[in-house]
Amino acid sequence: MKSVKDYIISIPDFPSKGIIFRDVTSVLESPEGYALAIDELNKLLDGVDYDLIAGTESRGFIFGAPLAYMNKKGFIPVRKKGKLPRETVEMSYDLEYGSATIEIHKDAIKPGDKVVLVDDLIATGGTIQAAAKLVEELGGEVVKMIFLIELTDLGGRKLLEGYDVASVVQYE
Ligand code: PRP
Ligand code: HPA
Repeated sequence: MKSVKDYIISIPDFPSKGIIFRDVTSVLESPEGYALAIDELNKLLDGVDYDLIAGTESRGFIFGAPLAYMNKKGFIPVRKKGKLPRETVEMSYDLEYGSATIEIHKDAIKPGDKVVLVDDLIATGGTIQAAAKLVEELGGEVVKMIFLIELTDLGGRKLLEGYDVASVVQYE
């Protein structure tokens, strides 16, 4: 029986020297790998009481949307700035070099909604922290954050202290 890790290809020196890039496209390309990844992510939601799933652009959509569909929940796309057509709230966050801004529709979350955040990978945690702040700005509650891959040495969990964080596979 293969595990999710068996489907992840690690690419040395991408996108720059010294970085080992954990690639999820090799998971997606395999029907068995993709199904296993979704099933394992779904197990992390066992016993969690929630109303909505939010995924961060772009790879968070690939894993978040199937989970929303199979659990009969709505899906909220957390998008990079300038893509959403209605009124939004936005949050900027730091990247390794420079910064980025993400948005969600203002009417996507009602006060008291319980929201699960999904992404393919957590590195520094900056992206998901910004997404959580947007949910909270609209009165929602982040009840769980789930990731297919966690890069443990990059300190994401520390940044996200106070949140319930879970991942399927871990790399140092
Ligand atoms: C990657 C990844 C996460 C984020 C993790 O997305 O999919 O969203 O970086 O990094 P962090 O924990 O340090 O914030 P990226 O911004 O590269 O966008 P993409 O999904 O469109 O490739
Ligand atoms: N893989 C995919 N996305 C990433 C990585 C990685 O190793 N590090 C930061 N974002």
